[in-house]
Amino acid sequence: MSDHNHTLPFLNKVVWITGASSGIGEGLSYQLDQLGAHLILSARDVDGLNLVNKQLPKNPGSAKVLPLDLEDLAQLPQKTDIAWAFFGHIDYFISNAGLAIRDFALTTELRIDQKIMNINYFGSTVITKRLLPHFIEQGHGHIVVMSSLSGKYGVPRLAAYAASKHALHGFFECLRSETVEQGILITIIVPGMIKTAITAHAITGTGGNVGRIDKTFETAYPVDKAAKKIIKAILKEKEEASVGGLELFTLWLNRVSPWLLRRFIRNHPIKKLRQLKARFFGK
Ligand SMILES: NC(=O)c1ccc[n+]([C@@H]2O[C@H](COP(=O)([O-])OP(=O)(O)OC[C@H]3O[C@@H](n4cnc5c(N)ncnc54)[C@H](OP(=O)(O)O)[C@@H]3O)[C@@H](O)[C@H]2O)c1
Repeated sequence: MSDHNHTLPFLNKVVWITGASSGIGEGLSYQLDQLGAHLILSARDVDGLNLVNKQLPKNPGSAKVLPLDLEDLAQLPQKTDIAWAFFGHIDYFISNAGLAIRDFALTTELRIDQKIMNINYFGSTVITKRLLPHFIEQGHGHIVVMSSLSGKYGVPRLAAYAASKHALHGFFECLRSETVEQGILITIIVPGMIKTAITAHAITGTGGNVGRIDKTFETAYPVDKAAKKIIKAILKEKEEASVGGLELFTLWLNRVSPWLLRRFIRNHPIKKLRQLKARFFGK
């Protein structure tokens, strides 16, 4: 790698990122811009996307803004065609957009279960299937999938969300095994608790808005640090990478003793994590 490529590893690479209007997607957009990428920014909130575009630190206003609603699966193939046509190719698809839900499995309506699956899972797979023939034809393509600790184990009140994130692992693990020979790379990111407004944007089992940031997320892992680690994992072509703070120890515990983890998280897992954090690192 030349020095130039070393400082600008995404130079002239086309990166399509969903969920670019806020949080992790916004943070990734700023850093990828600095690393030389041509960006395609997607989410529902056009004003939010335009603002992110305007605020790109290196090339403000240079991104292509492609508004879309992942819940509207029927429009996604056409949106994918538009995304492809912007630069005539795409090198990276960062499937980052997601919606959280906070409610018990029993009180979550089927239409909400389906909404979460459409946005977090089917939206991602519909776009991926449309991109794949192009990726295979050009001989490369890197898909980055935003999972969650909830893609690894279940905690109370996140059933629909956890189901959608587990589904991503199933789909993309299989896809990786099917396409690795064709130059397709798949990186699954497992974030812990990242300081975004995800808990405020979350919905309830009847479709209401949670509307407030969970206390634990106020002191969670910073977005810019998370974005940096995610980009590092992408550049290292990792198959899977976790990003976050102390809460990542649950991944280790889940490997060595799933039984113990289940007992630990059965009641008030967030509260327990907060107490643990306070004990080791202070308030
Ligand atoms: N923050 C965390 O602690 C954490 C932990 C684990 C996993 N994650 C995952 O990380 C990803 C990013 O989350 P975040 O923390 O950055 O939350 P966020 O700030 O709420 O961002 C979510 C993004 O997804 C977009 N989005 C939501 N519904 C959409 C839809 N129907 N169609 C298109 N875009 C949609 C939102 O944009 P619009 O509202 O403009 O559509 C927004 O840009 C998600 O997949 C989330 O599950 C986050």
